[in-house]
Amino acid sequence: MNIKIINFQQHGDERGMLVALEEAKEIPFNIRRVYYIYGTAPNVRRGYHAHKKLEQILICISGSCTIYLDDGNITKEIILQEPYEGLYISNGIWREMYDFSENAVLLVLASELYDESDYIRDYQEYIAYSRQNNYMEKEK
Ligand code: TYD
Repeated sequence: MNIKIINFQQHGDERGMLVALEEAKEIPFNIRRVYYIYGTAPNVRRGYHAHKKLEQILICISGSCTIYLDDGNITKEIILQEPYEGLYISNGIWREMYDFSENAVLLVLASELYDESDYIRDYQEYIAYSRQNNYMEKEK
């Protein structure tokens, strides 16, 4: 599964902490869009999609949340609870986000502008898409 946790460098001193993120350095792609999820109602589970092309880094800059990942083959659950920790998710991975703490702010850095045609929002369609892609990878 093409995901990884990135531990960002923390610039801390007696005043507190600071993390700086630059495209093509800490972030392995050019950042074309930033969005954040906050004020999540209790027991909400959201996401339920994969992207054909887009790559992302998720950072829970306040509070905590859990990310469920599925590449059509393996599934994983990652808890994000540190503001210096980024979860890189490549294209082609199904994700769901849940267990948001009351104060959670989930910051997302994305490699593409918003484009609904890049989304796969139907799980069966996703499985068919990922099988087709894995098959094509093997044939290369
Ligand atoms: P949605 O895709 O449902 O969020 P999730 O990632 O949890 O599945 O997005 C919620 C709404 O926000 C939807 O109407 C689309 C809109 N939206 C944008 O306009 N731009 C964006 O960059 C994103 C991520 C969503």
